Amino acid sequence: MKPLNITSQAKSKRSDKSWYILSAGLIISVTVIFILDLQFFASTNFIRNTLNGKMLEVLSAADNFTNRFIDTMKHKLIIIDSDIPDSASEQHVTDRFSNHGNCTWPPLNLQGRTPLNRTDIPIEKLDKKYTFMADGHYKPKNCTAYQKIAIVVPYRDRQLQLRIFLNNVIPRIHRQQLEFGIYIVEQTAGSLFNRGMLSNIGFVQAMKDMAYDCVVIHDLDILPEDDRNFYICGDNPIHMATKVEKFKYRVPYHSFAGGISTFSRKQYEDINGFPNQFFGWGGEDDELFARIKRSNYKMTRPFDAHGHCGSVQHSGQRTGNDRMKMLQISRKIWKQDGLTDLEYNLVEKRRKQLYVWVYADINMAKVREKLKKLNSPSRK
Ligand SMILES: *[C@@H]1O[C@H](CO)[C@@H](O)[C@H](O)[C@H]1NC(C)=O
Ligand SMILES: *[C@@H]1O[C@H](CO)[C@@H](O)[C@H](O)[C@H]1NC(C)=O
Ligand SMILES: *[C@@H]1O[C@H](CO)[C@@H](O)[C@H](O)[C@H]1NC(C)=O
Ligand SMILES: *[C@@H]1O[C@H](CO)[C@@H](O)[C@H](O)[C@H]1NC(C)=O
Repeated sequence: MKPLNITSQAKSKRSDKSWYILSAGLIISVTVIFILDLQFFASTNFIRNTLNGKMLEVLSAADNFTNRFIDTMKHKLIIIDSDIPDSASEQHVTDRFSNHGNCTWPPLNLQGRTPLNRTDIPIEKLDKKYTFMADGHYKPKNCTAYQKIAIVVPYRDRQLQLRIFLNNVIPRIHRQQLEFGIYIVEQTAGSLFNRGMLSNIGFVQAMKDMAYDCVVIHDLDILPEDDRNFYICGDNPIHMATKVEKFKYRVPYHSFAGGISTFSRKQYEDINGFPNQFFGWGGEDDELFARIKRSNYKMTRPFDAHGHCGSVQHSGQRTGNDRMKMLQISRKIWKQDGLTDLEYNLVEKRRKQLYVWVYADINMAKVREKLKKLNSPSRK
């Protein structure tokens, strides 16, 4: 474990009692604080501009600035500590840096890369551990979060992985000081698994609850190992699962969009969400990547350096599909196949403490019936 917990560094003690050195030190400290302040404001403004403005390419540099920011903070805390008592240091720094009610961004107390916690903890224990969550939702109490995000997880029959997911993902987003809701979108038995359509259902159901800034489509079995891989949205969709354990911590191919990706509400609507027509395993994320390009967005990987994700294996079988054929057809019909023609039966939506359970029935025959019409030669 390599926590970047900055406050823990703040315990360095003044060792020299000489007046001369002390006063010289004081002058140097004041100067350094002044310089670091300038740097700090430069870097946060840069991050804001990068994420809010129109600079498409610069996103990849955000991470660079996050790192420099964290380094800066480390020094800063050590210096500040010589002036104020230990117990007050954290509060002091938060006050200094928080932007009048906005949560500090990037947040303090981030952890670097740490291995996943793969211990299976019963859900009752998780409930007791994460009491800051209610109705599948968390909102920082003392400040306004940088973004409100909906985590949407397509799901079927993986209870062990779900518990491991919750025990790893919740504390991470919590440390990132974001406001978030978790939506576990489960498909009823009957039709083949449809990850794309479940993602669309999760998006719609989350937005019904509140105006989320950002939706994160998240595989249940791919989990970030590093807090510096931020669950946020930018000017373009962001791919977070860039170094996945089961692919030897690399992207398997350049246009890989699977695992974890983030979209602002507008981006998700512009690309018409995922395709609904991909049943069984595979292909829907390749079509997603194509939709992003067709809508003149770019899939970005701003946090690539910290994109390590562990995989939580399961023994279940995956059913292949007709994805090659579907990818051909999707090119023509993508504007009619997605959010715009989403039809499903909501069996249940229940707010548990740690997540909102969305249970939906998808009728494959009916969905494919639509495909015939969309793809008939008489249509253009
Ligand atoms: C990161 O910062 C260094 C120095 O500040 C700079 O040379 C480098 O080009 C930056 N990298 C990116 C991706 O912006
Ligand atoms: C808080 O952040 C938002 C968005 O970045 C900004 O528009 C607003 O001015 C900030 N509020 C304050 C009080 O600084
Ligand atoms: C995993 O999480 C559980 C529950 O919080 C905790 O008791 C346990 O110590 C953790 N294990 C590791 C290896 O961190
Ligand atoms: C946040 O608010 C809680 C009560 O809502 C308070 O106990 C705590 O001290 C506050 N923390 C900070 C850093 O302001």
